[in-house]
Amino acid sequence: MKGRVFSGARPTGKQHIGNYLGAIQNYVKLQDEYECIYCIVDIHALTTLEDLDQLQPNIREMMLDWLAAGLDPEKSILFVQSHVPEVTELHTLLSMITPLGWLLRVPTFKEKARQQPENVNYGLVGYPVLQTADIILYKANMVPVGEDQLPHLELAREIVRRFNNLIAPVFPEPQAKLTTAPMIRGLDGQNKMSKSLDNHIELAATPKETEKRIKTAFTDPQRKFRTDPGRPEVCNVYDLHGFYDSEKLEEISQQCRAATIGCVDCKKMLSKEINNAMEPFRERRAEIAMRSGYLEEVMADGAERAGVIAKETIREVKEKMCLL
Ligand code: TYM
Repeated sequence: MKGRVFSGARPTGKQHIGNYLGAIQNYVKLQDEYECIYCIVDIHALTTLEDLDQLQPNIREMMLDWLAAGLDPEKSILFVQSHVPEVTELHTLLSMITPLGWLLRVPTFKEKARQQPENVNYGLVGYPVLQTADIILYKANMVPVGEDQLPHLELAREIVRRFNNLIAPVFPEPQAKLTTAPMIRGLDGQNKMSKSLDNHIELAATPKETEKRIKTAFTDPQRKFRTDPGRPEVCNVYDLHGFYDSEKLEEISQQCRAATIGCVDCKKMLSKEINNAMEPFRERRAEIAMRSGYLEEVMADGAERAGVIAKETIREVKEKMCLL
């Protein structure tokens, strides 16, 4: 049997180039070799209780991005987490064998508890258990993700080992699969690119918007004047060039060090590279957005196919846990 791939992403709306370079490009590549299942995790999104009215539009925007980036519903299963409710059942069952201490140590839990002290909810603690349920409900072996998800994947493997030892050997241990760009920094040049930090560039942004965003990017903080030599090794704009036109990197590095180009020139070049690279994506996205009812069809078909696998696993788990 071909290996099975699973990944998920929170419905944050339009995806950014960090999501693409860190995860989506691998989702697309793996489709030809593996049985792939990709999920928009709407229940996970509820742990932060952001604008609920935006949840459905965000799911649609995200699915549009995925399809335009090359995810193919003929090859892969694309679905929305809450449309296959068995995941919540598995989450509850896994929570019975997961020590609380493991969950309280997870870095993302500590970070979220700091970010939203007024809403440290039970779901937030269980977030990685639900993520584990996502993955193992489909008995996935491989999970394409960005670097920030590695602690969650490590925990998923620990939960799997515990289940397999305590109950019965049911699940494979899922392995993370990184791209060559597993952590893209945002326009602030410091933090991970993320929508919540507003330091991102959307894949679907217009050429003008892209240029405007890139203009705000932080570069080498020591380079105050156009005539100062730059240090490409600390500059995120330089790093981003590497993902869009790696052949020019050496030249840009020399020109930056010699101050023959300034940061403004360098950013203009980057905007051009990104806009060129994204043009076919943006055209495809606009074309798919015109197809009435298409997204609903993709999601309904995905949920149906995912549901068949999910029901089988749940039956097996309940049997092993003596619930049947
Ligand atoms: P999420 O929604 O934050 O991100 C989706 C995917 O994009 C990657 N990513 C990045 N990669 C590189 N650089 C960046 N700046 C960057 N920002 C985001 C993430 O690593 C991720 O792969 N907990 C998950 C969602 C999830 C999940 C799962 C993932 C739920 N269940 C099961 C895998 C398997 C999350 O919040 O991803």
